[in-house]
Amino acid sequence: MLKARIAVLVSGGGTNLQALMDAEKSGIIKSGEIRLVVSNNSNAYALKRAEIAGIPSACITKKEYGKQEGFEKALLELLAENGIELIVLAGFMSILSADFVNHYKNRIINIHPSLIPSFCGKGFYGLKVHEAALEYGVKVTGATVHFVNEVPDGGRIIMQKAVDILPHDTPEALQKRVMEQAEWVILPRAAEQISAEIINAREKN
Ligand code: GRF
Repeated sequence: MLKARIAVLVSGGGTNLQALMDAEKSGIIKSGEIRLVVSNNSNAYALKRAEIAGIPSACITKKEYGKQEGFEKALLELLAENGIELIVLAGFMSILSADFVNHYKNRIINIHPSLIPSFCGKGFYGLKVHEAALEYGVKVTGATVHFVNEVPDGGRIIMQKAVDILPHDTPEALQKRVMEQAEWVILPRAAEQISAEIINAREKN
């Protein structure tokens, strides 16, 4: 059976990309295969990780393609050329337009480092999310994988995993624990779940 063709979109270090590639190797992801990695930042270490793993990669920047519209057009073309069926945003730091997400309805997923609907939406990215959780004083945080729609962090939730906040936690320590205990666990699981759904949907058609 043909596996679902996955593209992973990245901007930075790519530890979530690494978790996805490792999960494909170990068989946690068995219904999909990572066919392409796309970065909007030429310095992203994630690109190096793709190279080491032998996965084709590309860099598309807004600077090069002219703002959001040109950037998204180039991205759509590249995804179509590669027959991509599922887009995984793994630390991708650019918001996609409603027009773009409508091309891939229920076929774009994102990992966010909190339990949505807490500490999410515009302005909540990177360390800011964990700073906000600590400042509020919640005792439990975590990560969420959700579908991407036109509202930042607003699409339907696919999977969540909770992580305890410890006394004297710092934003950095919390960020690391949320990645290790939640993000790297649920993003591959969710990618597998949606890949399996894509295969099933193909068979029905
Ligand atoms: C992660 O915390 C992810 O939740 C957020 O951006 C970070 C990306 O880290 N969206 P990495 O590039 O996967 O290491």
